[in-house]
Amino acid sequence: MRKNRTFTMIKPDAMENGYAGLIIAHIEKAGFKLIAMKLTQLDKDSAEKFYEIHKGKVFFNDLIQYITSGPIIAAILEKENAVEDFRKLIGNTNPEEADEGTIRNMYAKSIDANAIHGSDSDENAQIEGDFHFSN
Ligand code: CMP
Repeated sequence: MRKNRTFTMIKPDAMENGYAGLIIAHIEKAGFKLIAMKLTQLDKDSAEKFYEIHKGKVFFNDLIQYITSGPIIAAILEKENAVEDFRKLIGNTNPEEADEGTIRNMYAKSIDANAIHGSDSDENAQIEGDFHFSN
């Protein structure tokens, strides 16, 4: 199978709790190659653009407030079947429903502060990666 790419962000709660290194090690051990990576912090405008797809949902304002609350690590990852395999590696959006051994099961506390993001399709992986790394 052809290698493809996904996009991830280690979110403010994981950064604050000192889990970034452990999470990156877990990702590499699972066979993902780091293609691009940066420490950054989203402002309100950028966060609203990044999460445009969720605009209008009940959790949108809390999501923007949370994701802008501290630094994040944004990264592009490469592996065969990257998008699907990475979603499996991070686990359910809600950590309470995330399988044992998944990143959200180990490092996340709530559906809002859920430690890590993973793109949900090849198309969104491209859009989200471009958003953070095209300039
Ligand atoms: P993620 O999929 O990385 O990006 C959107 C985020 O919205 C999601 O992670 C959750 O952290 C957050 N969120 C909060 N409430 C919900 C919900 N009910 N359904 C989906 N995502 C939610």
